Amino acid sequence: MNDAERLAKLATDVAARVEDGSVVGLGSGSTAEAFVAALGARAREGLRVRGVSTSERTSAKAREAGVELVELADHPVLDIGVDGADEIDPSLDLVKGRGGALLYEKIVADACQTWIIVASSEKLVSRLGTRLPLPVEVIPFGWEQTARAIRTTGLEPKLRVTAAGEPYTTDGGHYVLDCQTMPIDDSPALAVTLKQITGVVDHGLFIGQAEMAVTIDPEGEISVHRRGEHRAS
Ligand code: A5P
Repeated sequence: MNDAERLAKLATDVAARVEDGSVVGLGSGSTAEAFVAALGARAREGLRVRGVSTSERTSAKAREAGVELVELADHPVLDIGVDGADEIDPSLDLVKGRGGALLYEKIVADACQTWIIVASSEKLVSRLGTRLPLPVEVIPFGWEQTARAIRTTGLEPKLRVTAAGEPYTTDGGHYVLDCQTMPIDDSPALAVTLKQITGVVDHGLFIGQAEMAVTIDPEGEISVHRRGEHRAS
């Protein structure tokens, strides 16, 4: 089973869990986009569903798929949200943001009554900070100063740049510092420390937000992990 087939199978499984009449938080990234496509397929079969998007790219995908978009301001409580992740630890704490949408994703995740992660099983880790650098979204003004402050926490920040060498800019107009970490001992504490640094808008640690993660392994086997059910790692 190739990667696209795996994502499509996973997305179809999770889209089947969405109830008629739901307002859904739509995450960003390739896995979330596969979910949006599967949700669109259900909408075309008659499911009444509306979505709140977390990025311009996801909005475009939702329109393509035929999922009606609504504003968070008009729907402050969402029935369910579905998003991808870069790392998932045994407590279902996460690293997100490789796609640059972490801020809007976190705001939408907070609004969801149930927030579900969809991911390939390679994203399961025993400790966060092992697969990829931790993205931290910062205000462009004085970003070098903010990077210095982040460095004092033991992280190694590097400005994310585009292929043209320009600073990458999020939908919110901010920069992203990809921070090299060691495996993180205490992610909740690091989340608080980073948030307190002036110039940091938010960071890719999502602590205590996911209730469930649905993963698919290379053979196409789907597993459900729930918060509080300790996973062997
Ligand atoms: C977007 O900013 C990210 O948080 C993504 O949700 C995360 O990087 C997972 O992306 P993929 O599904 O593309 O791996």
